[in-house]
Amino acid sequence: MTKHYTHEPVLPKETVDHLVTDKNGIYVDGTLGMAGHTSRIISELNKKGRVLAIDWDPEMIGLAKKRLSDQGKEATIVQGNFADIDEILPRENITKVSGVLFDLGVSSLHFDKPSRGFSFKHDGPLDMRISPENPLTAYTIINKWPYEQIEHLIRISGERFSSKITKLIVREREKNTIVSTSDLKNLIEKHFIVRQDKIHPATRTFLALRLAVNSELDNLLKGIHSATHFMAKGSRMCIITFHSLEDRIVKETFKSMVKLGGWELITKKPVKPSDEEVAGNKRARSAKLRVIERTEV
Ligand SMILES: C[S@@+](CC[C@H](N)C(=O)[O-])C[C@H]1O[C@@H](n2cnc3c(N)ncnc32)[C@H](O)[C@@H]1O
Repeated sequence: MTKHYTHEPVLPKETVDHLVTDKNGIYVDGTLGMAGHTSRIISELNKKGRVLAIDWDPEMIGLAKKRLSDQGKEATIVQGNFADIDEILPRENITKVSGVLFDLGVSSLHFDKPSRGFSFKHDGPLDMRISPENPLTAYTIINKWPYEQIEHLIRISGERFSSKITKLIVREREKNTIVSTSDLKNLIEKHFIVRQDKIHPATRTFLALRLAVNSELDNLLKGIHSATHFMAKGSRMCIITFHSLEDRIVKETFKSMVKLGGWELITKKPVKPSDEEVAGNKRARSAKLRVIERTEV
């Protein structure tokens, strides 16, 4: 039986309220996912308004198309990397937009589907690619990359025990190939105490691998810069982050845009989900929404 995957959009009302300033405008949703935000943006627009939605993962595109057509809603949907917005928009004959949204990371489907290999909660291959066209997998990093490179990527994810974990990986792979998410999780669990009141000791290693496999932080920076070329006066960029590494990039980049001139920070402090939202959607607990507006072109 096929499993029915769902994904609750995070900060749905807050995001759409900040993003949509012109009901006849063109909006870019750079992270379509299951179309939760796209669907809500479409609902806000007049007939002349339009959404161009991008996702890197063809599986998400298929699900989003079905979802939107079930709701009787239309968007222009493109499979691609939001870092390439400067190539995607001209192909769609778009020169100016009224708003851009990035709801970063991966969707619940990615975590919940074992074959995608994103989560240590399921046994699956060490894959973690958002796009199947990406030549790099977590398997390659874990089994082929040198100690220094693995240690570095785990360390910058904020893992205090990066050298201990990397030593375990390198020692293990000399004896056995580390094939699955369970192999990696069990290896870490054998040498760390798992406590219910603390994050699992494999959490940061899995995050580090996902970020590296998909060049997530590079794509974020490139995506922000590419999108700015198309933003009309009064348009807004809304970015939802889920961990401090990406939030720091958004915060610092927005700050330097304001300093350069022509931009105003709309959210002096990031917008966070209410207790009520977090109670209904655990994924929302670490979400932060930051918004910037173009004041001059
Ligand atoms: C958090 S989910 C978005 C959920 C969506 N807002 C919703 O309400 O259903 C992030 C999505 O962005 C996609 N994604 C991640 N990195 C991407 C990139 N560089 N370019 C395009 N899509 C990307 C993932 O495949 C995933 O579907």
